[in-house]
Amino acid sequence: MVKLAIEGGEPVRREKIPIAVPILGEEEERAVIEVLRSGYLVQGEVVEKFEKEFAKFNGVKHAIAVNSGTAALHVAFQALKLLPGDEVITVPYTFSASATAALFLGGIPVFVDINPETFNVEPEKIEKAITRKTKGIIPVHLFGLPADMDPIKEVAEKHGLFILEDAAQAHKARYKGHMVGTFGDVAIYSFYATKNMTTGEGGMIVTNDDEIAEKCRIIRDQGQKGKYNHVLLGYNYRMTNIMAAIGLKQLEKLQNFTKKRQEFARKLSKELEKIRELIKPSKEPEGYEHVYYLYACLLEEKSGWERDGFIKALEAEGISAGPIYKTLLYHQPLYENIKDPNVYPYAEMLKNFLPNYKKAKCPIAEEIAKKAIQLPMHPKLTEKDLKDIITAIEKLILQKKK
Ligand SMILES: Cc1ncc(COP(=O)(O)O)c(C=O)c1O
Repeated sequence: MVKLAIEGGEPVRREKIPIAVPILGEEEERAVIEVLRSGYLVQGEVVEKFEKEFAKFNGVKHAIAVNSGTAALHVAFQALKLLPGDEVITVPYTFSASATAALFLGGIPVFVDINPETFNVEPEKIEKAITRKTKGIIPVHLFGLPADMDPIKEVAEKHGLFILEDAAQAHKARYKGHMVGTFGDVAIYSFYATKNMTTGEGGMIVTNDDEIAEKCRIIRDQGQKGKYNHVLLGYNYRMTNIMAAIGLKQLEKLQNFTKKRQEFARKLSKELEKIRELIKPSKEPEGYEHVYYLYACLLEEKSGWERDGFIKALEAEGISAGPIYKTLLYHQPLYENIKDPNVYPYAEMLKNFLPNYKKAKCPIAEEIAKKAIQLPMHPKLTEKDLKDIITAIEKLILQKKK
């Protein structure tokens, strides 16, 4: 019997396949050097150019660059007039900032369950969560797969709610032929180092609404309209020309990066499909274009493995892997202890609005959080990497069968 690497056997490969890597080339290097030599490092013409190109790429009127996806959410919530005590509906199975940025303004995240196949919000759960205090919906296009936007838009329109799309992980993803970022009142992107395109850290707000765009520009720059004329509460969330120079080159490469991610992911899914009762592959439903920010699959009980052991064994074989959002947002200490002023500065002020998050229940999200595993996903993966990933998984699965 073949011995697993974790038990001292020969690994499938010695050089580990990384889970994600930013891909930067000479084009980015040259663009950064040009900015450095110009002496104009802060937000200026290069940022403006990046905003114009990004708006064109996304098919929206306005793009406002900021220095992170989290900053983008904060600015967008403020421009959408989220006020203390207003509720926003989102999912507990996402990166913290999707919901937590609402707390910056005293907004109250309300969590609803997800779909077990797409890992995205279950639209029919949204309407049931609407109260008098609901102000908006934050659909997250998780892992690069668009949320089911038609029914979400319908509910939002029916109840007069805003939609803020969290497209931090979904650059270039499409839903029924239309690019994400074009469905809501506002959408945000992240350019964190491992995202489908990067500026190191960085973010973008996109909208077709002139008034919201103008407000976002003011809020991200100290609330200024003209120099030293502070008209709104604002922050320093400006992007630098250095970041934008990288962003412009990454945007040119995004098409190719996306194609590579998709080709690899679809081949991997085809292989995993053969053992889907043991490891369920990522789903890309008809009419949705997934851009695979990360590759998520579900380790089923039938595999005979528990998740942490499987990940360790896979790592020992030379394949990076990890759990994904294993603690749901409402189980995070921040939410469990949100009524403590040491944890949340507005706890006292909002004590009549804050729910008891310990009582929150999203059974499907809870199950997915227990089973989900991410496998390597980036544009540099090769056929040999694919073969090694499959070989390693099969090696682990076979071992349990014996
Ligand atoms: C779904 C989602 N929303 C928001 C963010 C926040 O973006 P950033 O890390 O650029 O602040 C991220 C980043 O990982 C994300 O994945």
